[in-house]
Amino acid sequence: MYYPEELIEEIRFQNAIEDVIGEYVQLKKRGNSYFGLCPFHNEKTPSFSVSPDKQMYYCFGCGAGGNVYTFIMQMENYGFIEAVKYLADRANITLPEPEMSEQEKRKTRIREQLLEIHIHAARYFYSNLHAKRGKKALEYLENRKVDKKYQKVFGLGYATISRNDLYHYLMSKGYQEEVLSQSGLVIPEKRSRGYFDRFFNRLMFPIFDVHNRIIGFGGRVLGDGQPKYLNSPETLLFDKSKHLYGLNIARTARKDQILIVEGYMDVIALQQAGFSNVVASLGTAFTPYHAQLLRRYVREVVLIYDSDEAGIRAALRAIPILENDGISTKVLKIPGQQDPDDYIKQYGSEAFKELIERRTYTSMEFEIELMIKKYNLNNPDEKIGFIKEAGKRLLQIKSNVAQEIYTQEVAKIGGIPVETLKKEMVRYQQIQPIHQNTIVKSKKEPLEKDIGLHKAQRGLLYILCTEPKLYKLLQKYIQPQDFTDVTYQQVAQYIYTVYNHNKKIDEAGIVARFSTLAEQQKVSAIFTGKIHFQSKEQKQKIIYDQIKLIKQASIEYRSRTTTDLKELQKLIEEKRQLDHMNISLLDG
Ligand code: UTP
Ligand code: MN
Repeated sequence: MYYPEELIEEIRFQNAIEDVIGEYVQLKKRGNSYFGLCPFHNEKTPSFSVSPDKQMYYCFGCGAGGNVYTFIMQMENYGFIEAVKYLADRANITLPEPEMSEQEKRKTRIREQLLEIHIHAARYFYSNLHAKRGKKALEYLENRKVDKKYQKVFGLGYATISRNDLYHYLMSKGYQEEVLSQSGLVIPEKRSRGYFDRFFNRLMFPIFDVHNRIIGFGGRVLGDGQPKYLNSPETLLFDKSKHLYGLNIARTARKDQILIVEGYMDVIALQQAGFSNVVASLGTAFTPYHAQLLRRYVREVVLIYDSDEAGIRAALRAIPILENDGISTKVLKIPGQQDPDDYIKQYGSEAFKELIERRTYTSMEFEIELMIKKYNLNNPDEKIGFIKEAGKRLLQIKSNVAQEIYTQEVAKIGGIPVETLKKEMVRYQQIQPIHQNTIVKSKKEPLEKDIGLHKAQRGLLYILCTEPKLYKLLQKYIQPQDFTDVTYQQVAQYIYTVYNHNKKIDEAGIVARFSTLAEQQKVSAIFTGKIHFQSKEQKQKIIYDQIKLIKQASIEYRSRTTTDLKELQKLIEEKRQLDHMNISLLDG
């Protein structure tokens, strides 16, 4: 769904950044800017600045920065469209209804009805729990020590023993059977042509999305019985590979880490014990969607799995998924065969806090420990096996420092010199030519050369933006398509268009053209990375170097990808010009 650019600009214009941020941060005027304590990191002295002239903010402490949209996205964890809606609402601007096809409209209608149906169902279950028919269920909850307050926070309820109570209730609300069966709460019975409730005689856990909408349910048998938990099936609303139980609450905790547990009851028990940052994957393996979802809120998680075989396997599978998304992962094994809920019940929340503080391992420590258990290190052959497996795993570590530390660790455990282990590791790398990690590495952690190139592209864009006078000269040497980074290329394209129409650059406006937070941050960084030149000569030298680096990479890239002879000739000419560029630029 897209809104016209003018509208996006109008909304931005109507929401002065100093006012919007002022609603979250206490700002004091100093010179042309406002300063306050950064809401994105912990600090005691203000390094967070807001510029009314530029309509941008920047934190000198943590580097957060952007325009009013970026701020709302960061602050509220919204996507771009959500931020637009929020700010439009704040400025009393009515957004146009999005254009939709008939089919899209129908789907939206059904989605809306499904959301309503889930609210009705949750209310219904809740009232059951507190009526006479819910006595047993309420007793069960009390036995499990769930306080009244948390019964309410999690909206717990009860599906009665009757097999079509909910069906009749929802029908009485005027929904069609077709829509009801799409909700997954009601199941058509072919033979009798009747409908039955999916959940009966179960304790009900509504599943919320991050915006507190109910999208499904989990239901637990009261006592023993199979299956212990029954969950909503996939529906238009619910996809368990994309949602985490409790995230609607955990995200508001604004902690640096999120705890990941296995079950519904663990989330509730931990919340009740004062851990506000806890989620559970809904009886499924951890997926990359889960990782992406979490990454919007934290950069670190603690995996808390049962220490049984299945729990360890689940943790081992989740680690690479999380780390691949840049989330550093720690593991907590609860002593004994207990889950967090049991543990807290037995030892109390203080003891659990201790566990988190003292007994969490880094994912690597956890894996090494498992390997040590797997191999008998007194047997030379097995020891070699250990070194091989550990060495291969070490190669996947992205941080050089961490890799060094763990390599020393493994060498010590294996009883060999570090140098020998490192030589072995080089060999493993050659045996596996296209190692998965080398791909990941090139994507996430650019080579030194690329970092330089990025810096040059960023620097030149900054100069182009801030010194309109230089544009006439520079555009002779460099074109938007020379920026090999896609985002920078778009920025360049915009700058060139603006100058060609003799207009002025509006920095916050450029940021607003990008819709993901990552892009916006990246673009904001262009404007906040001020460059100080010591002399005119130095400035020319820097600009010259930047152009040369960017142009060279661009020519290199294009000559690698083109098969067109004319294009190749053009590239050779460009290369020749580049080699002579020095003089012309200094003359200009
Ligand atoms: P557990 O079997 O460890 O149960 O399943 P639990 O969470 O400790 O449950 P309580 O404490 O006995 O009530 C962990 C999670 O796996 C999913 C549920 O999400 C559960 O919370 N699960 C488990 C199912 O989806 N279906 C099942 O039959 C069992
Ligand atoms: Mn349990």
